[in-house]
Amino acid sequence: MLLSLGRVIAVVSQKGGAGKTTVAMQLGGGFQAIGASVLVVDLDPQESAFRWAESAPLLDSDLPLDVRKMSGLELIKHIGELQKEADYVVLDTPPSIYHPSTLAALAVAHLAVIPAVPSPTDLWSTLAVERLVLNRMEQSHRLHGCILPNRVQNTALANDVLELLHEFTLPILDVVLCQRNAYAQSAVIGASVFQLGSAADAAQQEVRKLIAAVLKQLGEN
Ligand SMILES: Nc1ncnc2c1ncn2[C@@H]1O[C@H](COP(=O)(O)OP(=O)(O)OP(=O)(O)O)[C@@H](O)[C@H]1O
Ligand SMILES: [Mg+2]
Repeated sequence: MLLSLGRVIAVVSQKGGAGKTTVAMQLGGGFQAIGASVLVVDLDPQESAFRWAESAPLLDSDLPLDVRKMSGLELIKHIGELQKEADYVVLDTPPSIYHPSTLAALAVAHLAVIPAVPSPTDLWSTLAVERLVLNRMEQSHRLHGCILPNRVQNTALANDVLELLHEFTLPILDVVLCQRNAYAQSAVIGASVFQLGSAADAAQQEVRKLIAAVLKQLGEN
């Protein structure tokens, strides 16, 4: 029998609204779309991922996303069991790098994905998250980190994005999530962009590319 890999991906950022919950939920939908099993763990006391999933309308064809809420301590205690349950465990974290649940997430993760909005005001807080991830990487040799530009306004900005982000030490994924209604809309219906049909085709393609990039960071392709 093939044993589940149980790879753990933490989505972390210092700033509220950078897109942690959005990225965590799309990763969940994206892993399901490639036929992998996935668990999303909501470590944010605001419980946005959990509430988001709870509001999902159950369509016949849907595989509902398994979202569980947990504290950092519970995560540390149960991570071994969670890894046996699913191929990928995605952790949505609170908007603070000092929160015990964020630190717990980084203690168990193989990969930290930092969603970064490419604006000067977000740059400083992203640099602070990067410092924390680099520091944790020194403690845990299995942890890797990467930066995902999110809410990119249009492709002409791609160069500006890279210019803003080139100050980082961690790799910047060669994928961006653009500012798209589909992402905001998927939160409203409590699902990922894969439940929005062909109208969300562009967003689905971005998420598929994101999954490929994350697998590459995990050394799995
Ligand atoms: N790429 C995107 N395109 C359009 N809307 C987006 C995108 N990413 C995030 N959003 C929207 O921005 C808002 C904040 O996103 P989200 O809740 O994912 O951020 P967060 O980092 O989890 O925030 P918090 O720190 O408060 O938990 C939401 O309304 C979401 O729908
Ligand atoms: Mg959130």
